[in-house]
Formats: sequence, C-alpha cells, structure tokens
Amino acid sequence: MDGATTTLDLAVIRGDGIGPELVDSALAVLDAVAQVDGFSVAVHDEPGGAAVYRELGEPVREGALDRLRAADAVIKGPVGLPDVRRPDGTEGGLLGGVLRVGLDTYANVRPVRLLPGVDGPTRHGAGEIDYVIVRENTEGLYLSRGNGVATPHAASDQMLITRFGTERVVRHAFELARSRSGAPSDGVRRVTCVDKSNVLRSFALFRAVFDEVAAEFPDVAADHLYADAAAHALVAHPERFDVLVMENFLGDILSDLGAGTVGGLGMCGSGNIGADAAYFEPIHGSAPGIAGQDLANPLSQLLSVVMLLDHVGRPGSARRVGAAVTAALADGAVRIGPTGSPAGGTRAVTAAVVERIAG
Ligand code: IPM
Ligand code: MN
Repeated sequence: MDGATTTLDLAVIRGDGIGPELVDSALAVLDAVAQVDGFSVAVHDEPGGAAVYRELGEPVREGALDRLRAADAVIKGPVGLPDVRRPDGTEGGLLGGVLRVGLDTYANVRPVRLLPGVDGPTRHGAGEIDYVIVRENTEGLYLSRGNGVATPHAASDQMLITRFGTERVVRHAFELARSRSGAPSDGVRRVTCVDKSNVLRSFALFRAVFDEVAAEFPDVAADHLYADAAAHALVAHPERFDVLVMENFLGDILSDLGAGTVGGLGMCGSGNIGADAAYFEPIHGSAPGIAGQDLANPLSQLLSVVMLLDHVGRPGSARRVGAAVTAALADGAVRIGPTGSPAGGTRAVTAAVVERIAG
C-alpha cells in the first residue's frame, strides 16, 4: 500500500447518457485494485448534469462544490443532453463552467497515448505517441460562458488571459514535464507553448508569461508553436511532443485532435486539477445515442481512474490499473472497433481489466 489513508473518500458524479455505465466500470476497477492493494473506497454520489438541470434549473444541487472539495477526489462521468438547454440556447447540463471555475481546477491535464493493440490513423506504433496537453481551465475564451453578448444579428464572446492564470498553469506543465521521461522521439523533457501570438494580443501575453516561467525550469526545454502549426504537427510528428500548454479553447480542440490519432475519444481520460479539489473524467461527451446499450468504450473513464490514483498518492495502484488496461489491449482481450465501441461491449472490457488487476 502506498497511500496515506486506508479509505479513499470519493465523490462520484454519474452524469448523463453513457455516464452511469462508464462510472460503474470505474468503480468496479477501483474496487478490484483496492482489494489487491489493501485499501477501501467510500463513494458519495453527487448528482449533476442535464437530468439535474431539468429537475432543478441548475446542473448541481446546493452545496455541491463544498461536498466535492471535501472528497479526496472526484470521479465524473460525461454530462449533458442536447435537448436540455438554458434560455440563452447553451446546454443546461454541462458542468465545466460550474466545476472548473467553481473548484478552481486550473489545470486540465489530458494525456494522449497510443496504447498497444490500438490502430491509429497515422503510421505510429504503441509508445510513439505519448504527450500531455495541459489545457488552461478557468479563463481564456470559455470565461465568456454565460457572459457573451448577443442580438439576433451579432454575438460576441471575449477571451481573457491573465498573468496569474497563465503562470500557474504553465508552472503545472513544467512540473509535469519534470515527472515524465521526455518526448518519444528524443527523450527530451519539453514543454511546448501553443498560441496565436502572431495575431492576438491575449495570446502574446500568454507566450510572454510562458517564457518567464520557462526560465525557472532550465532543465526542461521550452518550445513554441502557433496553434494552426500545432494542429498539423500533432498529426504529422506527434512523437516530438512531451507536454503542451495552451489556452482553454485551443486545448479543447487540440485534445480531441490528439484523441483522433490514438484510437478516438474513448481512449482519453483527463484530470481537472486545482489546489483544493480535483476531478477526473473522460474528455468526451455523454453520447446519449448509445446510452444503456453496453456499447461505450469505458477506457477513457478507466484511464481517468489511473490519473486519480496517482493524484491521491497511490502510484502503485495507478500503475496496476494502467498495466491491466495495457495488457488487456496488448493481448487482444479488449479490441476497439472502427466506430470506437469495444468488441464484446462495455461490461466485457471492465471484466477483462478487473481480471488482469486481480490476477
Ligand atoms: C471537454 C468538453 C467540454 C468542453 C464540453 C462538454 C462543454 O468538450 O471537456 O473537452 O468544451 O470543455
Ligand atoms: Mn472537448
């Protein structure tokens, strides 16, 4: 056992669409690893998402943020239903604005890894794509959520970049690079700043602050790319990347692009990390069209569990779950089909991973 406590106290947001079945998978895997490593898991359900919005007119219950902060960490399934809308036309069930800003989880950490047995659309093999997008999570263009100005003829959203917000997320990216073993192509620990500082002043500030923080980390290489060139390079030469840091909206787009190179959105988990709270979720949406049919790929949720275990100080358990996922893919027990659904179904994937943890 490598953690400080013997009970892992988790808050769980099951979410909408495929959320509940993915969270079931995560909890089964957590139970399996807890049994092997000798700790227990206490789960507190915190309802959240579109179903809650439909009932209450808010996507979470009163006091939710305090309860989520009090947990050791939070597992969150995907949320949102396309027909549940706010009066302004945006989706009512989404929690990003509520949780990311409300819990001040400023670093959205999104690993992109090509795992064994997974066919990506490029010529890369397992291990040749292994980078992390650190998406700023509390400001940027998304800070305009709920605050944009619109008439029937024109609409405007503003992007805000602050020195404070940029410094802390860039620092997080450099610390993360220190804990990794560099880019697959050359083993160099590197943080790439992605922006459009050639066009917009807000991005020029982001880059200037990046350069200042980079100077504090002489042992990690610092690099820059404009976002359009980054989109190209992440497809053409993903092996050159280690850690990338960028504004919120750019991070949203480029993390889906990255997922497209490693077997799809179902292969990518994430952690929303702040000083007082952290929650772990797939990077994709709630896919209501396939909900409840045992078709969803739970690996995004299981890879988020790996991140959660690392975050709560159980790196041995994190490695055990990560190794079980990798083994299940490598030996063919888990195969992800061209649509992104796993052959055999969601529950079969869970069983294969649980078996490899216990065994
Ligand atoms: C993500 C998602 C969210 C986002 C949506 C569901 C609001 O796409 O976590 O990447 O845009 O941030
Ligand atoms: Mn997204």
